Amino acid sequence: MKTVLTFQRLKDNNEKIAMLTAYDYTTAQAINEADIDAILVGDSLAMVALGYENTYNITIDEMLIFVKAVSKGAKDSFIIGDMPFMSYNLSIEQGLENAAKMIKAGANAVKLEGCNEHILSLIKRCTESGIPVLGHLGFTPQLMNTIGGHKIQGKTAEKIEIILESAQKLEEAGCFGIVLELIPADSAKYITENLKIPTIGIGAGVNCSGQIVVTDDILGKFTDFTPKFVKKFANLHDEITAGVKSYIREVKNETFPSINESFELTKEEKEKLLSVK
Ligand code: KIV
Repeated sequence: MKTVLTFQRLKDNNEKIAMLTAYDYTTAQAINEADIDAILVGDSLAMVALGYENTYNITIDEMLIFVKAVSKGAKDSFIIGDMPFMSYNLSIEQGLENAAKMIKAGANAVKLEGCNEHILSLIKRCTESGIPVLGHLGFTPQLMNTIGGHKIQGKTAEKIEIILESAQKLEEAGCFGIVLELIPADSAKYITENLKIPTIGIGAGVNCSGQIVVTDDILGKFTDFTPKFVKKFANLHDEITAGVKSYIREVKNETFPSINESFELTKEEKEKLLSVK
């Protein structure tokens, strides 16, 4: 059984933390069976599961449906619900109320992007109220419009120091870990070495305490675009298309359903039916 304590234990034992995203019941079951360290129900589901253009339009109520499905499928996993755009930015009360909805839906923790006075106060309130928080720094997709696109962060010594300072504030506020997204590997290494809590990299090199990627990216199911940091461990899109083509072929040439997939009348009932004619 994985808990929030698993993160610090793995970091302290110099063992890497492996995390993945999941959005639905059956994928969560398979990931759970593989013994993943934690699952993020990421707001990336806006694009990957719902076909939205970005993460801005996904709502807390939509996110909750996916958190419920994943928590039912991944019974032994530590599940983190990603707080969507503007679901925690308006006030501490709004953030706390929505974080609580995530926990009631089956998440064990929440993830928040960025670091400012509001976020730091919210992290404190959440952790005091029994809601563990995973931070998120570097490229933060919910701030894409202010960042100016998918830009690598922390490319100079000054910028790295700013990210480290934010990371240390998140640590002090009570985060149990921090996602570092789109940061050069050396920068992520420096930040990781100067924190007590683990860092979870995505496009941040091998020296983070752990890694997270979008499952549909690494299994080749989401094919709209593939970031440089994605390695494909399977090609599910092609496998699904091939499987569906075989199904269509067998329906058309009447090899599916065969006797194995059909229900038969008893011999007597069959004869009766024929005699009615
Ligand atoms: O939404 C998401 O999937 C994320 C990543 C860190 C994978 O935030």
